[in-house]
Amino acid sequence: MRSWRLWLLFVLSLSLLLALAAGCEEEKEEATPRAASPTPRGTPGALSGKLEIFSWWTTGGEAAGLEALYKLYPDKCPGDVEIVNATVAGGAGFNARQVLTTRMLGGDPPGSFQVHMGHELTDTWVTTGNMEPLDALYEEEGWNDVFPQSVLDIVSYQGKPYSVPVNIHRANVLWYNKKVFEDNNLKPPTTFDEFFQVADTLKAAGITPLALGDNGIWASAQVMETVLLGTLGADGYNGLWTGDTDWAGPEVTKALETFKRMLSYVNSDHTSLTWDQANALVISGDAAMTIMGDWIEGDYKAKNFTDFGYVPTPGTKGIYDALSDTFGLPKGAPNPDAVMCWLRLVGSKEGQEAFNALKGSICARPDCDTSLFDAYLQSAIADWKTDTIVPSLAHGAAASQGWVAEITDAVTAFVTDPNVAVFQSRLADACNEAKVCS
Ligand code: GAL
Repeated sequence: MRSWRLWLLFVLSLSLLLALAAGCEEEKEEATPRAASPTPRGTPGALSGKLEIFSWWTTGGEAAGLEALYKLYPDKCPGDVEIVNATVAGGAGFNARQVLTTRMLGGDPPGSFQVHMGHELTDTWVTTGNMEPLDALYEEEGWNDVFPQSVLDIVSYQGKPYSVPVNIHRANVLWYNKKVFEDNNLKPPTTFDEFFQVADTLKAAGITPLALGDNGIWASAQVMETVLLGTLGADGYNGLWTGDTDWAGPEVTKALETFKRMLSYVNSDHTSLTWDQANALVISGDAAMTIMGDWIEGDYKAKNFTDFGYVPTPGTKGIYDALSDTFGLPKGAPNPDAVMCWLRLVGSKEGQEAFNALKGSICARPDCDTSLFDAYLQSAIADWKTDTIVPSLAHGAAASQGWVAEITDAVTAFVTDPNVAVFQSRLADACNEAKVCS
């Protein structure tokens, strides 16, 4: 709970800073009168018509988790609703969000869409008046007493919740092929020094040390995020998003040098691979390690690969770099009754148990039956209770979408031309442009 509170404190102070920084524009948005909360809808009954669920869940564990929810829908929501699975492929939603934005701006919202808890939800869709408040639903389902207060606060704006979290993912995990490690007499690295020693041994043995698939640049941004975390620690990392840590300072330089060095150990075709194609290199043993969120564990499950190990990324033991997938009700969504019942399912114990066991994430609600989860997920559930929680950059929790876009653009340039000084100055500028620094 202590770490939950820390995260909450962090998110609240960040929101306050952003609200102050956003000045007149924000004031204008906040002045827009809010519609009264809708009467609870989607109570099990005679539901019909189409229900379009928009997400980027197309790979093994992602698709399997989503399918498990779809299977449960008719039980929870009797009727003859036809679910339309509207997916846009591309890890972390970088493609999906573009399509979603076009649809939302064009007055063509899906029934419900996947959106990260934190800045991505609030800054992009809630403060701009695009979502319906869900306070009546939360009251009816008793969720105000189920979800931790910190979760309620993060999904809420001006006292009302605007989405339903289905899971919690961890971004700072180093996954490795156990056989490759055993064959080469290696132990999983816990520090950067150990990482580079292990990487040198693997390289000498003709094995790619670190698999990377950054045809979506977020994957490299995520590796960088874990290196910043492992170098600066939780407080220093959190300070990057509040202006308390100097983006132009020597600790960030050190982290970026380490990130640069790490990139020299990745597969040469990384820019043409997706995150799961990179993971296939670990499964086949062509590569030994990859740094990725725990949706990879869902990918292993879907591919029946069990010979994997996991440790927190170098320097991040005791820190949980967190993100959460949520669903809400967009204003003007077609078939809102069917959507509301979808949200009931997404927030239910049964729904979360079925989804998360396949997805490689843990429940957002704390009352799921732990025995339903495998060894990795049980370890994640335990860590979640004790670790210091920090928000993920690459997955919408730490920074607004505009700022994330600036950072990922800078990462794209860096991956092609790894000049640390140029990169660092772009990152410092991005913080200024986000009006968090300066
Ligand atoms: C994250 C999302 C996860 C997983 C991952 C890879 O942004 O929260 O659920 O889908 O992208 O696509």
